Amino acid sequence: MLPARSAEAHDLVPERVNSPYIHDPRTIMAYVNENYLKLAAGYLFPEIARRVSAFAAEKPELAKEIIRCGIGDVTEPLPASAVRAMHAANEELANRASFKGYGPGTGYESVRAAIAEGDFRSRGINITDDEIFLSDGSKGDCGNILEILGAGNRIAVTDPVYPAYVDANVMFGNTGAALAGGGYDGITYLPCTEANGFLADVPSASEATPDIIYLCSPNNPTGTVMDRARVEAWVAYALKHRAILFWDAAYESYNRSGAPKSIFEIDGARECAVEFRSFSKSGGFTGVRCGYTVMPKSLKAYTRAGDAVALHPLWTRRWNTRSNGVSYAVQRGAEALYTVEGKREVSALVDFYMENARILRDGCVKLGWKTWGGENAPYVWCKVPNGSDSWAFFERLLRDARVVTTPGAGFGRCGEGYFRISAFNSRANVEEVVRRLGSV
Ligand code: MLT
Repeated sequence: MLPARSAEAHDLVPERVNSPYIHDPRTIMAYVNENYLKLAAGYLFPEIARRVSAFAAEKPELAKEIIRCGIGDVTEPLPASAVRAMHAANEELANRASFKGYGPGTGYESVRAAIAEGDFRSRGINITDDEIFLSDGSKGDCGNILEILGAGNRIAVTDPVYPAYVDANVMFGNTGAALAGGGYDGITYLPCTEANGFLADVPSASEATPDIIYLCSPNNPTGTVMDRARVEAWVAYALKHRAILFWDAAYESYNRSGAPKSIFEIDGARECAVEFRSFSKSGGFTGVRCGYTVMPKSLKAYTRAGDAVALHPLWTRRWNTRSNGVSYAVQRGAEALYTVEGKREVSALVDFYMENARILRDGCVKLGWKTWGGENAPYVWCKVPNGSDSWAFFERLLRDARVVTTPGAGFGRCGEGYFRISAFNSRANVEEVVRRLGSV
């Protein structure tokens, strides 16, 4: 994981206070969530931003040349149908007759219906409107979901992995301390390496059985895609062990391989999986903020006494208590992505970034670098060419090429020695990145 020297992490070191009340159990005081103090380093992307700012401050004459292919943040304008729908929604809010106050915490009915029909039923997948829960994005959902599950679940993640899953579990107390060399005690890391094509294998019978397993396909960061047989194996595993799969499908619109886009394409998944989706990378909504969770009514978890409890009512209860939902205009914008025109625009946007990914991938291959991803995902994953560690190579690319990437070590121990290039940028910048990579 990250070297433990970031400013953000340093702020989390508890300050010793010389007070007579400390450690006196009779004294009432406000306690901190000590799980936060376990966090080994600042969150990956702010740490990258901090290093880029430091470089820009040191070399202001080069700052304008920096091209950011680190965080996967979209650059192209929103689909026109989403923009029109959001304008129209704001006009409704400007008129007494059509004004809207609080909406349903879980999302407007018509929006949930458009999603359930557009992403699932029209593809032969049985998902009802009320199994869709709107949110401000899947990053929050994949941590918030832990609220309705018990303490002490054994969590498994792939390694490398999107760091938000791990950090959220640290914050919720599902891990022990940070380990020297990266990772946290108590988490099961499923190694994804060159040997297994960066795809997580189901644990063998002799390995510990996790209760909750995070899977992401197309994968962030490696850009690899799980084929049907592998997804079926995971569903069979989860059903056998009464585990739950958290299927992160934030990049499904980039998956044109025929491999499953949704976990619910697989028989039995309704009994063992939750799916997270996002409009960030399909509709360009990283700044607008909208995503959703699919919570099937047939999914159950267990009390300590062994009684099965459906999670759908708990998730509904959670939303209605903790949120008043996504803003009206944003929901209307998301709904517009499911119109005929909206679908065409989303497809064109994804095509655009996919062509960027192809250019980056081809460029890296031409340089003789070992390269994965970039075919069904907006991320290209490369082996650091000269054997240096991934943070050192990040610094070299930043200083010598003024290109920002994401060091593989930021995604976990198995990411060490690799780096990720995001295809979310303008065409001109992507072409320039390929030229500059050739010069380092
Ligand atoms: C990434 O770069 O991995 C993603 O953009 C981060 C995110 O979606 O939160």
